[in-house]
Amino acid sequence: MTNTQQPTPKSSLAPVGGDRQTPDISRNAISQEIQNLNCTPAKYSHAIATFMRRRTHLSQYAQKALTDPSFAPYIINHGKVLGKLGDVSNIRDLQVLFKDTPNKENAPLTLEIGFGMGDSLVKMAQADRTRNFVGIEVHEPGIGRAAYLAHELGLTNLKVLNGDAIALLNNLPDEHLDTVQLYFPDPWQKKRHYKRRFVTTERMTLVADKLKTGGVFHSATDWEHYALWMLEVLDNMATFDNLAGKGNFSPRPDFRPATKFEKRGADYGRASWDLLYQKV
Ligand SMILES: C[S@@+](CC[C@H](N)C(=O)[O-])C[C@H]1O[C@@H](n2cnc3c(N)ncnc32)[C@H](O)[C@@H]1O
Repeated sequence: MTNTQQPTPKSSLAPVGGDRQTPDISRNAISQEIQNLNCTPAKYSHAIATFMRRRTHLSQYAQKALTDPSFAPYIINHGKVLGKLGDVSNIRDLQVLFKDTPNKENAPLTLEIGFGMGDSLVKMAQADRTRNFVGIEVHEPGIGRAAYLAHELGLTNLKVLNGDAIALLNNLPDEHLDTVQLYFPDPWQKKRHYKRRFVTTERMTLVADKLKTGGVFHSATDWEHYALWMLEVLDNMATFDNLAGKGNFSPRPDFRPATKFEKRGADYGRASWDLLYQKV
């Protein structure tokens, strides 16, 4: 299910899990929450993580990809100690990572933040071999799985990275990326957790800096409050042009495969909303 309409004023859809509050999804309430967040001093907001690392079982394939040196071409910071967050402090250029591949360093570059188990990212890289893709995640089973799939398919245009996307973005030069994609980011449903949402004015300013002029930020969510929240944040940024026109969601593009979280939401009857913004 895709949705280019405004979400209905009152959600009739049950959230996953029974213990979550029903958020106020009026535009005014969302706008007020965002303004409050924009007043948070940087010294506090910089310390807030957008992820919660989950301890989950590693499949034998993921484990092999994370530990076997033959997978080093697929995992940029391969060989780190399992269970620890990856270090991205010395990664300052993503294009250079492709210098020994058929595409070399000049192909258009997509960065996917939070690719989860990686199936949709791998499909996108498989479908467009002329483009270079880098995915960043903190979830080891997903990093291992994506690398394993890329290796099985012999993809030379996909690399994955273990680490915090914010730390990575801070290291990259400005005007470096052609596309940044963020599919079904953690919705952080409780009001006290809104500050952890990846889409905030501060974090999106960082994303905009790293995008080339004319580059695109693409997000999608099945969480109604977050869909409206993203629209409010991004429509109010002068650096971004809403490709569907201010106040509108975009039709779901054909090139975006369904993700694991999207399929899970659909099983609960949730629609999803796509947002596409170009850096001006
Ligand atoms: C709800 S999941 C969605 C995964 C996938 N995109 C999908 O749709 O199936 C969000 C993912 O974003 C990752 N994530 C959140 N913040 C991140 C960050 N700062 N850097 C890297 N990954 C992050 C989380 O680890 C999680 O796996």
